[in-house]
Amino acid sequence: MNQLFRTKPTTVHDFTDSGLKRCLTAFDLTLLGIGAIIGAGIFVLTGRAAATDAGPAIVLSFVIAGIACTCAALAYAELASSVGGAGSAYAYGYAGLGEFPAWVIGWMLILEYTVAISTVAVGWSGYFNSGLQVLFGAGLVEALLHGPWEKTSGGGTGIVNLPALAIVATLGVLLARGAKISAQFNAAMVFVKVAAILLFLAVAIGHLEPSNWSPFIPAPVTDPDGTTHFGWPGVLTGAATIFFAYIGFDAVSTAAEECENPQRDLPIGIIASLAVCTVLYIAVSGVLTGIVPYAELKTASPVASALLKVGEEWAAGLIAFGAIAGLTTVMLVLYFAITRILFAISRDGLLPPFFSHVSERTRSPVRVIVMIGVIMCGLAGFLPLDRLAELTNIGTLGAFVVVCAGVITLRRTHPDMARGFRTPFGPIIPLLGIGFCLWLMASLRVETWQAFGVWLIAGLVVYFSYSMRHSKLAGVTTRSLA
Ligand code: ALA
Repeated sequence: MNQLFRTKPTTVHDFTDSGLKRCLTAFDLTLLGIGAIIGAGIFVLTGRAAATDAGPAIVLSFVIAGIACTCAALAYAELASSVGGAGSAYAYGYAGLGEFPAWVIGWMLILEYTVAISTVAVGWSGYFNSGLQVLFGAGLVEALLHGPWEKTSGGGTGIVNLPALAIVATLGVLLARGAKISAQFNAAMVFVKVAAILLFLAVAIGHLEPSNWSPFIPAPVTDPDGTTHFGWPGVLTGAATIFFAYIGFDAVSTAAEECENPQRDLPIGIIASLAVCTVLYIAVSGVLTGIVPYAELKTASPVASALLKVGEEWAAGLIAFGAIAGLTTVMLVLYFAITRILFAISRDGLLPPFFSHVSERTRSPVRVIVMIGVIMCGLAGFLPLDRLAELTNIGTLGAFVVVCAGVITLRRTHPDMARGFRTPFGPIIPLLGIGFCLWLMASLRVETWQAFGVWLIAGLVVYFSYSMRHSKLAGVTTRSLA
């Protein structure tokens, strides 16, 4: 039993040279964070959550999810500046809680990132095809926009979601060329999407109609199956859904072994990117529900559609372009993050060494980039993913709970550890983070919990059949127990 909860000496991999190239600055990290955060959540999910769950009070949903994420971000900042390591929450869990909880958290992160990237790729495909229709008057045939288990509008079945598959493959090639070139591409795209959001705010503000905000919290409605929409329960469901929009700041911490001054720069990158996005989200959701009635926002591209409804066609086209840039950077940064997490888990022996091989030429983990890319191409290109998106939220919320718990534990077990950043107000913020995240997890659907349970069982099988026996710390523990 002790073996399961052995913790790792907190300086094992911390800020030492791991073979990965140290080339990222605090500014790069902030842009990586914004790159990972602003995407399908604000450009797609916000409209649906406002139309079906929260109404104009979607703004409150953003505030609630924002509070949960701020607490988690402060906890991430502390651990990123002290424990460090490319493994992010996995590495912090290992240092603070022990190997088995760390494995569970790493397994959740693998789920979070793989599902998020594949789902966003499917959303990207929809926007890309709309772009083709606008530019060339025709898009791809439907069979090339859906996998074989999906129906096309003509009653046939799809073959492959070709754009989704192609974008994942393209990003894999970019990442294999190295972290710096990927960060430069990300920076350019981030400017495009932030410009698109600012353009939306500037154009939409002239069309505000205060009556659209009334009632601000629509009266609750309960379905025959017992699900309640609107009212305060709807605000909370909305928060659990649009929590997806905030996911990504945690990915910044996976760049720990590729940034120039991790103890100073990681907290800046994590906190600054979340702060910028929180302000933008609250502004966009408030303005969006102020320009059209919330019930009309249930479309695949609510931000662009709302501008079309108020007669701003030119701006709607530019927003759609910004959304494509946004979805691209989300996939890029999350793809970067999952390769670094697999790298860190493998380096500890819990996954085969294949996952932590670094190419001598690009000094990036090319093999794992290719392998995980092939899996995600398969998921995005061939599987219907709609119902899996919430799995990303549950995996991330679970990781946030562990990171907050890690801060509290390490303050007790390693009070003198050097901390480049300290979460203010002692344990209050991490405790609030745990409370908010558990509250949001409880608001997710039963099916999501069931799928999550199946994934965790698979993780236990891998751990007990492979990881436990290959752990690099196994020998250490055996000696110390003897
Ligand atoms: N936060 C990211 C998005 O909204 C995952 O697409």
